[in-house]
Amino acid sequence: MRVLKLSLAFFFLGLLNITAQESRVPAIIPQPQEITWQEGEFILPERAVICYGPNAKTSAEWLQQLLLNTNTETYSMKGEDCRGFSLEIEESLKENLGAEGYELKIEDDKVSFTAATEKGLFYAIQSFRQILPSALEQGRLNEEIRLPQVTITDSPKYEWRGSMLDIARSFFGPGYIKKHIDRMALYKLNRLHLHLTDDQGWRIEIKNKPELAEKGSMGAVKGGRSGYLTQAEYKEIQEYAAARNIMIIPEIDMPGHIYAALLAYPELNCDDNANLTPKRAIPPGLFHGYEVGWSKFCLDKPEIYDFVATVLGEVAEITDGPYLHIGGDEIEDERYEEFVVKADSIVRGLGKTAIGWEEVTKAKVDESFISQRWHGKTESVVNVKIIESICSHFYFDHANVEGQKLTNNWCKEDGVSLRDVYDFTSDNKSVIGVEAPLWTEKVLSDAAADNRFWPRTIALAEIGWSEDEDRDFVNFTKRLGMHGKRLDHLQANYFRTPEVEWNSEKGEGIFSGYMPEKEEK
Ligand code: ACM
Repeated sequence: MRVLKLSLAFFFLGLLNITAQESRVPAIIPQPQEITWQEGEFILPERAVICYGPNAKTSAEWLQQLLLNTNTETYSMKGEDCRGFSLEIEESLKENLGAEGYELKIEDDKVSFTAATEKGLFYAIQSFRQILPSALEQGRLNEEIRLPQVTITDSPKYEWRGSMLDIARSFFGPGYIKKHIDRMALYKLNRLHLHLTDDQGWRIEIKNKPELAEKGSMGAVKGGRSGYLTQAEYKEIQEYAAARNIMIIPEIDMPGHIYAALLAYPELNCDDNANLTPKRAIPPGLFHGYEVGWSKFCLDKPEIYDFVATVLGEVAEITDGPYLHIGGDEIEDERYEEFVVKADSIVRGLGKTAIGWEEVTKAKVDESFISQRWHGKTESVVNVKIIESICSHFYFDHANVEGQKLTNNWCKEDGVSLRDVYDFTSDNKSVIGVEAPLWTEKVLSDAAADNRFWPRTIALAEIGWSEDEDRDFVNFTKRLGMHGKRLDHLQANYFRTPEVEWNSEKGEGIFSGYMPEKEEK
């Protein structure tokens, strides 16, 4: 049992003050494993040294950047345990805290960050960032900063803490993706799954199949944006994400959800397009609708495997992480299982591990395969690891509140509330983590994507990081309410769910929160 320790005085102070204003005890999300607030303060000095041990230079740079908007002038140097700020890698911490765990100590004359790896130090810095005034997120703060003393020992529950963005139905480019990465990092999420292809659009350049981007990217769902990522952009996003401890998971959805590719390379169709049922779009027309499960590769044609190998080969080449997601959802075909087994084998041949939506477990895939659970109804013939994305808790294309316009509701008619997200628990030992998808059939702008992601992604982050016994919805909403201004400063157009008493007024800050949208005809 992990404990939340508070000295008595601060316990009451916290209870009394936690609602309306940023209280003296800051709100840290996700809830750390062990946290002890002390009575004293640390006053940020006019000048401070940031000293760092071996392999902690990048972390020192992150910290220095974080302090740029304060009145503290910092100087960073290699060295041990100086007054001011110190960052140390201690490999022995790995045993108890894993690669991502950390210790953070704020004392009267110094702040120390310790972890087994730079990933852990990055998270120690994110916790420290949440202790600093939120105004620093946006600009300079010309005032003395006093921080409460605290000791935190922390590590994540799950190795997989993910967010998914569908850039195929409606395109979201590098600018939005990087903003999303910034916000994910603050809440210690570590996987960004990009749904790169679907019937409406193909969004990644494949050099050996140039028509995929040239033709396949031209469409979008009605009202949505078209476009694609060049490989250079993909790599740049990946590097940006990696610096923030986030791995990119690329998804090429096959053998269904594939119309954009069939449009670009019609030879992948069966004769007379008999694999399009019913013909929602007539080649070479684009598809702008919402229907799913009507397109597929012609699985009788051996050539499709050359195509799959070429595409996955290039995606593997530009992807640093060990995973390739091959989709596999919502398709009926006698040769479906054969396709999945072959695609899995291609992925393994490329030195990567395959992930697929849960239907893939109808096939006898390799034990290394990872299944992404979304409706929970598949009769699986294999025992593989699972990423939990069950729609009733994690489908953020669903309404924040019942009746919200431009949302899907097939899984849960009254929407997926903050509480629905937060109430998720699992005792399945095969689960390696959680991930919330944002499908974008009806998410047509950056503001709308923000509205669907935030604050539900913060609840997801706490599920992924904090132990169940340390989680409590009322306590979470109180802490979340104290992040309202921080989200404003991050220019996140978050949904002001009535489940939370926010510390920023509606209309205050740069963005005012929920914008009502018109339902499309
Ligand atoms: C899915 O929602 N079709 C994975």
